[in-house]
Amino acid sequence: MVKAITWQDDFLRLIDQTKLPLTTEYIDCRDYQSVAQAIRTMRVRGAPAIGAAAAFGIVLAAKRLLETQPSVNRPDYLALLQTAASELQATRPTAINLFWAVKRMLQRLNEVTTETPAEITRLLEKEAQSIWAEDIAMNHRIGQFGLSLIPEGARILTHCNAGALATAGYGTALGVIRAAHAAGRRISVWVDETRPLLQGARLTAWELLEDGIPVTLITDSMAGYLMQQGKVDLVIVGADRIVANGDVANKIGTYTLAVLAQMHGLPFYVAAPWSTVDLSLSSGTEIPIEERSPEEVRMVAGQCIAPPSVPVYNPAFDLTPSRLVTAIITDRGIIRPPYNESLPELARL
Ligand code: MRU
Repeated sequence: MVKAITWQDDFLRLIDQTKLPLTTEYIDCRDYQSVAQAIRTMRVRGAPAIGAAAAFGIVLAAKRLLETQPSVNRPDYLALLQTAASELQATRPTAINLFWAVKRMLQRLNEVTTETPAEITRLLEKEAQSIWAEDIAMNHRIGQFGLSLIPEGARILTHCNAGALATAGYGTALGVIRAAHAAGRRISVWVDETRPLLQGARLTAWELLEDGIPVTLITDSMAGYLMQQGKVDLVIVGADRIVANGDVANKIGTYTLAVLAQMHGLPFYVAAPWSTVDLSLSSGTEIPIEERSPEEVRMVAGQCIAPPSVPVYNPAFDLTPSRLVTAIITDRGIIRPPYNESLPELARL
């Protein structure tokens, strides 16, 4: 299966997701600045994938510092890594996985008090590799738990890309879809194209075709009509952040689908690893929603499709209130409302 991120001992190799599906090009990041740039420009994207990439960004910061200053003292070493951490965290504000992964790396850094910078760098490298490997394992568990929610013959609607490309591997929403397909359920998938950046059309459609899972691409505005015609059995999406009351931030357009699903009496599922849960916020309204460049809306595939001077509003994510979420599928199990009770219960596991 495709790997969005691979650690190559001295550099981080990323698939350039802005070029898919027309060409498979790789970018080799040799310093943390190029990792930050790849996250900002969405060459690597998807909540768990940017978390794992940022963790390797910290390792690259440490490695490059040791090369230029082999005898760097501990305070200078720690200061440089703190700067790298801040720059990586400043790339995208919404997905909590980015902050979770960088925080975990800094915690590892602060735990070790006796080692030299060279030894700490080796420990950081191990930690980033664990973040990456654990993400794949969590996605497989999400897939196994989610299986119980996918009936034989289900026609599933998904949005954006919550697949192998958005994670270290396998995917969250697509992990559940993959698990159902592997279990022999004859499912089929409707994929929203997901304007403005077309992650559904470019990435999800490509991943599902590669896996031989039946997929049909629709534009974002077609979802309601399909539901009205009885052509959708359930909706499953990923998440960028899930807060204590169960509110979910995910790709712009997710809320619209949740409202439509409720209107048509369809289950609306969110699949995410525990690293996407942020119990420090009590309500979705506290989640910072990233706004991106107007050019992403005015342009498609490098072509301007609107008057170049038209004002544009481009929020990259929206908020789905927990009352619209039928269940959340995590690597620790499936939870249902009331989420302000079920989420803290999972936190104790
Ligand atoms: O802007 P993106 O492409 O990074 O947004 C991605 C999403 O919204 C995904 O649904 C989410 O990160 C979950 S990925 C497992």
